Amino acid sequence: MPRPRGRSQGDALLGHRLALAAALLVVSMVVPADEDYWWLPVPLQGDPPNEHHPLTRDLSAKVCGYCHPKQHQQWRESLHALAMSKGLIGQLATTSQQNREACLSCHSPRSEQWATWKTLGSSALGKVDGIDCAGCHVRAYHRFGPRDVAETPHGKVKGLELFKRSEFCQKCHQFPPGQGTVLNGKPLENTYNEWKASRYSREGKTCQSCHMPDGRHEFKGIHDAEMTRRGLRVQVLRTAKGMYVEAKNVGLYHATHHHSRGDNRAGEGEARRVCDSAARHVGPAERLARAKRYASAAGSVA
Ligand code: HEC
Ligand code: HEC
Ligand code: HEC
Ligand code: HEC
Ligand code: HEC
Repeated sequence: MPRPRGRSQGDALLGHRLALAAALLVVSMVVPADEDYWWLPVPLQGDPPNEHHPLTRDLSAKVCGYCHPKQHQQWRESLHALAMSKGLIGQLATTSQQNREACLSCHSPRSEQWATWKTLGSSALGKVDGIDCAGCHVRAYHRFGPRDVAETPHGKVKGLELFKRSEFCQKCHQFPPGQGTVLNGKPLENTYNEWKASRYSREGKTCQSCHMPDGRHEFKGIHDAEMTRRGLRVQVLRTAKGMYVEAKNVGLYHATHHHSRGDNRAGEGEARRVCDSAARHVGPAERLARAKRYASAAGSVA
C-alpha cells in the first residue's frame, strides 16, 4: 500500500548507530536487542567471517536452499518470496525516491538488495527476491534462529526468543500510529494491534502458531483458499467503478486489511480506494481470477 515515511535528521543519526551496531556485531557477535533486530533496511552485512564455509558467504535464498531445501521449497511459493512483484515495481516507478525507499524497507529489506535495485533498476525484477532467508535470519553475517545450534558450516547459530514471538512480525505488519493511510481511524496495516487485542494473544497463540505451523515457511494468508475459508466470508461486488471484494472476518483471528471494507460510509469509500490501489498492479484478468478465487474460497458470489 502506498505509504510515505518521512526522512529526518533522526534517520541520519540512526544510520550512524546502525553502522556502529553492525561493526560491533562483526567483531564480537553482539546479540542485537529485540528492538534492534529489525532496523530497516537491514544494515550491510560486512565481510563474511573466515571460519565460515565458502558456500555460506553467498546470502541468496537459492544458496541457503542448497542446505535447507525444506524451508526453501516452502518459502519460494510464499508472498514473502514474491514481495517484489511486477505490480510493486510499477508503483515504485511512479513514486518519489523517499517513498521508494520506504516500500523497499519492508518488501525487499536487506541493504544488499537495495544496492542491486539501484544498479539494475526495473531489470532486477525476478533477480532479487522479496523478503528472503537472510533478511529474517542473518545480521552482520551471523545466523539467528529459534534456538542455539553450536556447530554449522556458518558457525554458531544464536537462538533468539524473539523468533517465537509475534513481535518478530510486528515491524512490517503494523504501521506506527499516525503514519500512512488511515482506514476508519486505524492504520492501513494494523495486524499486530488486532492480534494483541484478540484472545489469541492472551492464550499465547502467536503469529507463528498460525502462519508457521510446525515451523513451516509458507506464510499462508488471505491469498490461500483453505486459510481464508477458516477466517473469512467473502463477496464480490460490482459497482459503476468496477468490481471489488468485500470480506468479513468471521473467524475473529484478526480483522482483515487489504480487502476489508469499512463499517461506515466514509470508510467504505476509503476501503474501496485502498482495494483498488492494492489491486492496481494486477491486470483486470488477474483481478477477476483473484476475486473468483476469494469468492469460491468462501462459497459466495454476489
Ligand atoms: C511497514 C512495512 C511496509 C511498507 C513501508 C510498505 N508495505 Fe506494502 N505491504 C506490507 C505488508 C505487511 C503487506 C501485506 C499485507 C497483508 O496482506 O495484510 C503489503 C502488501 C503490499 C502489496 C500487495 C497487495 C496485494 O493485495 O497483493 C502492494 C502492491 C504493496 N504492499 C505496495 C507497497 C508500496 C508501493 C509501498 C511504498 C509506497 C509499500 N507497499 C510500503 C508492508 C509494507
Ligand atoms: C553449506 C550448507 C549450508 C548453507 C549454504 C546454509 N546453511 Fe544454515 N545450517 C546448515 C547446517 C548443517 C545447520 C545445522 C542444523 C541443521 O541441519 O538445520 C544449519 C543451521 C541453520 C539454522 C538453525 C537451524 C535450527 O535448527 O534452529 C538457521 C536459522 C540457518 N541455518 C539459516 C541459514 C540461512 C538463512 C542460510 C542462507 C543465508 C543458510 N543457513 C545457509 C548448513 C547450511
Ligand atoms: C519472514 C521471516 C522469515 C523468512 C523469510 C525465513 N524465515 Fe526461517 N524462520 C523464521 C522464524 C520466525 C522461525 C522460527 C519459527 C518457529 O520456531 O516457530 C524460522 C525458523 C527457521 C529454521 C529453524 C528450523 C525449524 O524448523 O524450526 C531454519 C533452518 C530456517 N528458518 C531457515 C530458513 C531459510 C533457509 C529461509 C529461506 C528459504 C527462511 N528460513 C526464511 C522466519 C523466517
Ligand atoms: C489464531 C490464528 C492466527 C493468528 C494468531 C494470527 N493469524 Fe493471521 N491469519 C489467520 C487466518 C486464518 C487468516 C486468513 C483469513 C483472514 O484474513 O482472516 C490470516 C490472515 C493474515 C494475513 C493476510 C490478510 C490480512 O488480514 O491482512 C496476514 C498478513 C496475517 N494474517 C498476519 C498475521 C500476523 C502478523 C499475526 C501476528 C501479529 C497473525 N497473522 C496472527 C490466522 C491467524
Ligand atoms: C521485512 C518485513 C516483513 C516481516 C519481518 C514479516 N513480513 Fe509478512 N509480509 C511482508 C510483506 C511486504 C508481505 C506482502 C507481500 C506481497 O503481497 O507483495 C507479507 C505477507 C505476509 C503474509 C501473506 C498475506 C496474504 O495477503 O496472504 C503472511 C501470512 C505474513 N506475511 C505473515 C508474517 C509472519 C507470521 C511474520 C513473522 C514470523 C512476518 N510475516 C514477518 C513483510 C514482512
